[in-house]
Amino acid sequence: MEVVIAPVARLAQLAADAVERLLVTRPDAVLGLATGSSPLAVYDELARRHAERGLSFARARGFLLDEYVGLPADHPQRYRTVIETELVSRVDLPSDAVQGPDGLAADLPAACAAYERAIADAGGVDLQVLGVGTDGHVAFNEPGSSLASRTRIKTLTRQTREDNARFFDGDVDAVPTHCLTQGLGTVLEARHLVLVATGRHKAQAVHQLVEGPVTALWPGSVLQMHPHVTVLVDDAAASRL
Ligand code: GLP
Repeated sequence: MEVVIAPVARLAQLAADAVERLLVTRPDAVLGLATGSSPLAVYDELARRHAERGLSFARARGFLLDEYVGLPADHPQRYRTVIETELVSRVDLPSDAVQGPDGLAADLPAACAAYERAIADAGGVDLQVLGVGTDGHVAFNEPGSSLASRTRIKTLTRQTREDNARFFDGDVDAVPTHCLTQGLGTVLEARHLVLVATGRHKAQAVHQLVEGPVTALWPGSVLQMHPHVTVLVDDAAASRL
């Protein structure tokens, strides 16, 4: 695990560098895309490089980490919509080359199995952009998640729903109670994990992720088992290392 401590703007550049290196050597790369606020500066930087020097995503594909259950297709906080707004619409990544778990499926377990198959059929994820929740969740694998878990339905914790209420006009009751998420076992199969965390509220999760024992109580700690992880943190998020 490589840990880089740098100012926030530099972290976005470093993450974008990793994506750019991959796309230059492998234009048809499979990108794992995270939502949440942590990767937004990375997507800004990628959009800038696309506009200014033609970094191309035209042959790439993307898979989302997770999705809320039950949000209408046109809801702005549906993760498939968020990634369209934050990245896809700003670069030349074809919209139909990006997919997420189908949180509106009538048969959710079947949708989870189909999503696992789609990732495998694409040859797996080359580079997975990641954030971490204040309680150590990765994707939506909340504390207690099996370290070998696959894409499945999960109940969101009160903490995560409160953390995410800011995206729903501060109304925690508007935050869905369930989600579909890649499992930790699914995430670990990506060939390179690039995690971005900033702010003092992430310090405990980063400490457990980097230095804690590997435990389902801090799901991010399972990243210690992966052979190629880049952890990009600012001073505040690194304050307990
Ligand atoms: C969200 C997402 C995760 C994200 C994490 C941190 O709920 N499901 O993929 O990494 O929580 O979010 P943020 O970056 O906004 O702090």
